Amino acid sequence: MIRNIFFSPSGTSQQIAEKIAADLEGISESYNLTVYEKRNITLNEGDLVLVTCPVYAGRIPPLAISRLRHLKGNGQKAIVIVVYGNRDYDDALLELCDIISHKGFKIVAAAAFVAQHCIFPEVAKGRPDRLDDDKIHDFTVAMDKVLKKGTRLDISKVKGNRPYKKPGSVPLHPLTVKSKCTKCGVCVKECPTQAIPEQNPLKTDTDICITCCRCINVCPHDARHLGGILYKVAGWKFIKDNSERKEPEWFF
Ligand SMILES: Cc1cc2nc3c(=O)[nH]c(=O)nc-3n(C[C@H](O)[C@H](O)[C@H](O)COP(=O)(O)O)c2cc1C
Repeated sequence: MIRNIFFSPSGTSQQIAEKIAADLEGISESYNLTVYEKRNITLNEGDLVLVTCPVYAGRIPPLAISRLRHLKGNGQKAIVIVVYGNRDYDDALLELCDIISHKGFKIVAAAAFVAQHCIFPEVAKGRPDRLDDDKIHDFTVAMDKVLKKGTRLDISKVKGNRPYKKPGSVPLHPLTVKSKCTKCGVCVKECPTQAIPEQNPLKTDTDICITCCRCINVCPHDARHLGGILYKVAGWKFIKDNSERKEPEWFF
């Protein structure tokens, strides 16, 4: 059984994880840790664990680490994936390898895939696209062989440094267009940090919002967005600096 475990506020890590799981040989079961923690991931001896997380500021989001805290391996094989928005994945893949290996898994492969940047969607717009799908397929074909061999990945080959880069937060938070918001409560329910108050969904608690953009993605009325002068200025430079297409990378 493939245990497909992912944290994916804006959905691209989930998309990539599901494509990989579907392309690998075997039946898979998904565990979406984005909104609620699913505690009971009961593993069997021969299971393959696929763990996928997005990159935030070159690291694994602390909330994703916390959601993974009940996961415990007993020598099962694991594939570790990070998904990033075409800037860089810095130390995130190495960090996730360290986390999963400390939990008792035998990592056989690690990979970084690219997706549309959730904060600046002009960057890597529309990704994963057809070329990414081809790369995902190449990866899974290679994986079939790697899994048969079962050799443990030498984590020192994975890109990244220890100590990992200092975590950073983004000083931008989604805003609500009052005229579009119907107070339907979808964003309240779906926010991974409960940063949107039920009584007043026009507000966002900026102390706990992690700018994951889930509210923007799930709003059925297109009422949530990022904006303001800081967003525009930061976006102009960010888009200019990160428009060159980056390709997936993998290690095994
Ligand atoms: C707070 C935050 C920080 C981010 N930092 C990075 C980064 O350091 N490098 C990068 O390339 N993309 C970065 N991104 C973009 C995400 O990694 C990218 O959009 C990813 O596809 C999101 O995954 P998801 O759709 O599964 O939520 C960041 C996104 C957020 C919300």
